[in-house]
Amino acid sequence: MAEQSDEAEIQKQTTLELWLILHHKVYDLTKFLEEHPGGEEVLREQAGGDATENFEDVGHSTDAREMSKTYIIGELHPDDRPKLNKPPPRHPA
Ligand code: HEM
Repeated sequence: MAEQSDEAEIQKQTTLELWLILHHKVYDLTKFLEEHPGGEEVLREQAGGDATENFEDVGHSTDAREMSKTYIIGELHPDDRPKLNKPPPRHPA
């Protein structure tokens, strides 16, 4: 029984994990999902990608920006930055 619970818990945590990029910084928003005043869904939509434009479009307050610093876990490698603005690779038809 205990093993089943542990597995379920691990599964849950894996599903909930959420990283995204803002201004070349990497954010782990896993613990922020439920607190986000703009809702969980908008963050999920940005998961794993560069959310800078959408973050700025919303016009987040100074408070929101201050708050966001708490969740920075790293920085995108300079070599990977130019790749962010390129459209996704297209597959031949
Ligand atoms: C570290 C990242 C983020 C933090 C700390 C954060 C924090 C906040 C806060 C505090 C608010 C309340 C309004 C304000 O104070 O500006 C808010 C609203 C909102 N946020 Fe975020 N946010 C983050 C990322 C994002 C991202 C990536 C999106 C992507 C679309 C987003 C979309 C929204 C929306 C749609 C609202 C609601 C605006 C409204 O009701 O007028 N947020 N956020």
